[in-house]
Amino acid sequence: MLTGKRILLIIGGGIAAYKCLDLIRRLRERGAAVTPVMTRAAEEFVTPLSVSALAGEEVHRDLFDLTKEAEMGHIQLSRVADLLVVAPCTADLMGKMAGGLAGDLATTLLMATDTPVLCAPAMNVRMWQHPATQRNLAQLQADGVAVVGPNDGDMACGEFGPGRMAEPLEIVAAIEARLGAGPLAGKRIIVTSGPTQEPIDPVRYISNHSSGTQGTAIATALVALGAEVVFVTGPASVPPPQGVQVVRITTAQDMLEAVQAALPADAAIFAAAVADWRVAQVAESKMKKTRGALPTLEFAENPDILATVAQMGDGRPGLVVGFAAETDEVVANAQAKRARKGCDWIVANDVATGTGTFGGADNTVHIVTGDGVEDWPRMAKAQVAERLAQRVAEALGG
Ligand code: PMT
Repeated sequence: MLTGKRILLIIGGGIAAYKCLDLIRRLRERGAAVTPVMTRAAEEFVTPLSVSALAGEEVHRDLFDLTKEAEMGHIQLSRVADLLVVAPCTADLMGKMAGGLAGDLATTLLMATDTPVLCAPAMNVRMWQHPATQRNLAQLQADGVAVVGPNDGDMACGEFGPGRMAEPLEIVAAIEARLGAGPLAGKRIIVTSGPTQEPIDPVRYISNHSSGTQGTAIATALVALGAEVVFVTGPASVPPPQGVQVVRITTAQDMLEAVQAALPADAAIFAAAVADWRVAQVAESKMKKTRGALPTLEFAENPDILATVAQMGDGRPGLVVGFAAETDEVVANAQAKRARKGCDWIVANDVATGTGTFGGADNTVHIVTGDGVEDWPRMAKAQVAERLAQRVAEALGG
C-alpha cells in the first residue's frame, strides 16, 4: 500500500503517455496522492483535463506561472513528494536529465529536487539502443536514478524490441519497492542464476544451456515486492535485472564463495544450473591434438552450493529454495533431491530435449514442499517468478 505517500508524476511526451492515466488510477487505489506535471509534448498525447480528473489535482505545466511561484514555487513543488516518477521518460527527457538541463518545469523540478527519482523509459527500439541513450542511462543510474523497464514488445511505430514503457502495475511495483512499501521490504534474498563454466584449458570449458531467464525473472519479481536482492550469476545470455546487487562468477567454486559472502539472508533461491563436475587438472596451455590419441579428462566433484547453504546450522536463511532440472521422473526425482539436499522447497522443471525450458520464455513447474506437490500450469517464466515471489513473501510473513 502507498497510503500517505505523495508521488510527483512527470508525464513526458510519448505515445505511452496514455498509460499514465491508468498509472494514476492504480496509485490512487493504493492510497497515494499524485501531483501531476506535464511537459508541452505530453499534452499532444493526453489532455491535462483527463490527467487532473484522474489525479484529483491540478496539473502543473508552466515554469513561469508567477501565481504559483508566489504560492509554492518549483523548489517546494519538487520536494513535497516522497518520490518523483518520470513516465514516459522519453529519449529527450533522459538526455536532459543526464545533462543537467533545466529549460522547463519538468526538468527544473528534476534538477531542484532532493527526493529520489524513478524513471520509466519509453521510446523507439533504435532510439533506446542508440549509444547516446545508453550513455545517458548509465549516467542517470550513476546519479542514483532508479529505472523500471523498458520492456520488449511490439511498439506503436511498428517495430519490435526493447523500448516499450513498463506496464502501469510494473511501475507501481517499482514505486512500492523504491518506497520500501512492498511485502518483501527489509528482506534480503540471494538468487543464483545462469550456467557455470568449468575450464578445461585456457580456451575450452564445460557448461550447459541455461540462459539465466528464469533466475533473472525471479530476481525481478522479488525486487518488485520490495526485496533487497543479491544476484549471483554465471555467464548468462540475458542481461541481469535492474535494482539488484549483481555478482558475476564463472565456476561453481566462485558461485559458492559469492553466495557465502552474501550471507546472512532471509531467503536464498538457487535457480542457477551449476556444473556438478569440473576438470580435475585444468591444463595451463591449450591442449593440442595428437595424431591417433584422444585426450582423457579426469573429473572432480564440485561443491553443492544449495546443499551447503540448506544444511548450515547458524546463519541458515529462513527459507531455502532449490530448483531441480530433470529429464525424467521429474517430480519423484525432485522429491528425492529435496530430501537429500535439505532445502525447504524445490521448484522442479522438465529440461528434456524439446521442452524449451532451457533458454525458452515459458516453463512448467511443480512446487515440491514438505506439504506435498503443487503442479502449476505452463506459463511465462516471468509469471512463474511472480507467483514464486508471492509465495516467498507469504512464507517470510510479508
Ligand atoms: O536459465 P534458463 O534458460 O531460464 O533455464 C532455467 C533453468 C532450467 C536453468 C532453471 O529453471 C533450473 O532448473 N535451474 C536449476 C538447474 C540445475 O542445476 O538443476 P539440478 O537439478 O542439477 O540441481 C539442483 C539444485 O542444486 C539447483 O537448485 C542447483 O542450483 C543446485 N546445485 C546443483 C549443483 C551444485 N554443484 N550446486 C548447486 O547448488
